[in-house]
Amino acid sequence: MKIYEKDQKVKISFKVNGKQIETEVEPRRLLVHVLRELGFTGVHIGCDTSNCGACTILLNGKSVKSCTLLAVEANNTEIQTVEGLAQNGQLHPVQEAFWDKHALQCGYCTPGMIMQSVWLLKENPNPTEEEIREGISGNLCRCTGYQNIVEAIKAAAEKLRLNQPLYQRQ
Ligand code: FES
Ligand code: FES
Repeated sequence: MKIYEKDQKVKISFKVNGKQIETEVEPRRLLVHVLRELGFTGVHIGCDTSNCGACTILLNGKSVKSCTLLAVEANNTEIQTVEGLAQNGQLHPVQEAFWDKHALQCGYCTPGMIMQSVWLLKENPNPTEEEIREGISGNLCRCTGYQNIVEAIKAAAEKLRLNQPLYQRQ
């Protein structure tokens, strides 16, 4: 087992939104902080006990709460954040649906909520209302009362089923 000195940094490398990034981190650093320091400041921190989901990203295609992973654990993975969803300025269908259905107010939960929705619709392209609510139950919102988020996810599901290759266009 490798033992690290206090403050010793470790080289890590991962792909974020398709771009390879190399950086050095202390082993104790949380992925959420490292991503934000790399400029992905759409990844938010809403709690310190892993319940709010504001830090949700996709890691190797799965939704994870980046506040509850060490950055070193993300070595050699592929990460997607909300910043990588739009392509050439064109919104991803989930982003479009959040806009159309007024599914955000302060916008603080929105990046995590959208990444969770992208993952949910990849897992279940035709979810019931109950499945949507359950699917986003790890993501808290203090503003919207959730109803419009549910409507947005329904609308995005329909749009993705009709026009888009499922999941995302990267
Ligand atoms: S910041 Fe709240 S779950 Fe990650
Ligand atoms: S829009 Fe404000 S917390 Fe969800």
